[in-house]
Amino acid sequence: MTDDERDLRTAMLATCRAMDARGINQGTAGNLSARFGTGFLITPSSLAYDRMRPEDIVEMGWDGSYVGRRPSSEWRFHRDILQARGDVDVVLHCHSAFATSVACHHRTIPAFHYMVGVMGGTTLRCAPYATFGTQELSDAALAALEGRMACLLGQHGQIALGKTLEAALWMAVEVETLARMYLQALAIGEPPVLSDAEMARVIAQMQRMSYGLGPEEEGVGDIARPRKG
Ligand code: 13P
Repeated sequence: MTDDERDLRTAMLATCRAMDARGINQGTAGNLSARFGTGFLITPSSLAYDRMRPEDIVEMGWDGSYVGRRPSSEWRFHRDILQARGDVDVVLHCHSAFATSVACHHRTIPAFHYMVGVMGGTTLRCAPYATFGTQELSDAALAALEGRMACLLGQHGQIALGKTLEAALWMAVEVETLARMYLQALAIGEPPVLSDAEMARVIAQMQRMSYGLGPEEEGVGDIARPRKG
């Protein structure tokens, strides 16, 4: 095993444990994959993160062949997303409580808060229900993720994407936070929704600033930047 592979496995395990620590996962629910070599690495099925070791993470090819333990039952949507989305290298799935509560009602989260824009559009879509581990679920997830960095899965959970492990984890926590706020806002009635024109401004601003996802490029536009000297 190369140093790069060992480092990636270690970082994946740390991200899995961070999912538990951040309260967005529990037990053996959830799974994580990262593009690697001629395929990807993915967490094994039904193994709690506190018992998982880096060597338990499974190496998979795009054809579904694998080396090591039995891969996550959701390997199909991990594979299909990584194949279809050249803009992401990491797929994270979890059953975080608030996002899943919204998904149990098959609700798409509208632009009730500007941070919905960080997922890439005016809504956080909810994919229709399909049995876990099936191609049908993968197809539904891929459609709900079109132009987005996250989606809900009806009566199941959420998927968050990222260019890095850190970014995907950040996105999953954002999804959970927005779902929590949406449920709380709904308690006193359906909240108003920001207009498409305002959301277009929000999304353009987020893209210009790499909002939430990393440091801005120095000297770009009128963004604030650290003073030199
Ligand atoms: P695995 O343990 O097979 O990854 O399944 C967990 C899960 O969340 C299925 O959707």
